[in-house]
Amino acid sequence: MKYRILGATKLRVSVVGVGTWQFGGEWGHVYTQPEVDAVLGEAETCGINLIDTAECYGDHLSEALIGKAIREKRANWIVATKFGHHFRGHLDRTRDFTPADVQAQLDASLRALRTDYVDLYQFHSPDDAEFFRDDLWTAIQNFVRAGKVRHIGISVSPNTNIRQTDAATAAGAQAMQIIYNRLARQCEAQVLPSCQRQGLGVLARIPLASGYLSGKYKPGATFPANDVRANRKREDEDNALREVAEIAQREVPAGVPMAAWALAWCLQHPAVTCVIPGCKNPEQVRLNAMAADLPLVADDHPARVP
Ligand SMILES: NC(=O)c1ccc[n+]([C@@H]2O[C@H](COP(=O)([O-])OP(=O)(O)OC[C@H]3O[C@@H](n4cnc5c(N)ncnc54)[C@H](OP(=O)(O)O)[C@@H]3O)[C@@H](O)[C@H]2O)c1
Repeated sequence: MKYRILGATKLRVSVVGVGTWQFGGEWGHVYTQPEVDAVLGEAETCGINLIDTAECYGDHLSEALIGKAIREKRANWIVATKFGHHFRGHLDRTRDFTPADVQAQLDASLRALRTDYVDLYQFHSPDDAEFFRDDLWTAIQNFVRAGKVRHIGISVSPNTNIRQTDAATAAGAQAMQIIYNRLARQCEAQVLPSCQRQGLGVLARIPLASGYLSGKYKPGATFPANDVRANRKREDEDNALREVAEIAQREVPAGVPMAAWALAWCLQHPAVTCVIPGCKNPEQVRLNAMAADLPLVADDHPARVP
C-alpha cells in the first residue's frame, strides 16, 4: 500500500480506502456482520486504513456494522462519515442540515460507530442553501472543540460546485469528497484546481463509475430491484458501458485488471489524495488495493508519504 497526506488534515491515509454505501443494503445484498468483518479484515491486511461511510447508508446501519468490526482497533482506522440526511427506506431519504438535528445525527453516528470521535465529518451533498449557513458551521466548529470531530470535510454536489469548493478553507473545511473517475471528469476544470490552490485533501468517490469501470458489465446489463443501479436510465447506462468497452481496449494495459487500473487512473491526478471504492467482498478489496502498485501511482505525487 502507499500512503498520502490528506491535505490540511495532515491525516496519513492509504491511497486506496473502502467506501461502504453497500453495507446499508442498497446494492443488491443485505450484509451480515461476518461479511463486513471479512471485508474490513482484508482491507487491514492490505494496508488500507481509511473507511468512508454515512449516516444514511441504512439508518446508521453501515456505521453500526463498521463500529462492531473495528471496535478492538479503532485507533488504527481513519473513519470518515457524513451528515444531512435521514434514511427512510430503500433509496428514500429526508434532508436536515439544521444545527440541532445535525447534533443528534452526530451523536447517533458516534453510538453506531462505537467511538467518541469521527476523524473526518463531511457535509453530505448539501445544496448551497444548506451549505452557506453560519449557524451550522458554528455548530460543527463546536463539535471540533468538543473533540467529537477531528476534521471537517465536504462531499460536494454537484461535482462542479465551485462556490462550495472555493469557500471550503475559509469556512473551516480541510478535505473534499468529489465524484471522479475515468468517465466523470467534470471536476478537472475548476474544482480540482481550487482544491490544489487551497491545499485541501481530495477523496475521489464513485471511482469505479458504480462498478462499470471494472469492465465486467456489458451494454444491456440488468440489476436486481434492490440494487441502486436498477433504477437508472438504461440508455445512459448502456452509453457509459459502451465507453467503458472502448477504454478497456484502448487504454488498459494487457494483463492489468481494469478495476485496479481505473483506481490508479484517478490516483495519478496531483490533486487526488485517495480513492474510496465500494468493495462488496474481500476479493474486491484485494483487487482494488493492487491499484497502489501500478505505475500510474507515481512516487513523486505531491502528497506522497515515503
Ligand atoms: N454523496 C456522497 O457523498 C457519496 C455518493 C456516492 C458514493 N459515496 C461514497 O463513495 C463510495 C464509492 O462509490 P460507489 O460505491 O457508489 O461506487 P464505486 O466505488 O464506483 O463502485 C462500487 C461497486 O463496484 C463493484 N466493484 C468494486 N470493486 C470491484 C472490483 N475489484 N472488481 C469488480 N467490481 C468491483 C461493486 O459492485 P458489484 O460487484 O455489484 O458490481 C461495488 O459495489 C461509496 O461506497 C461511498 O462511501 C459518497
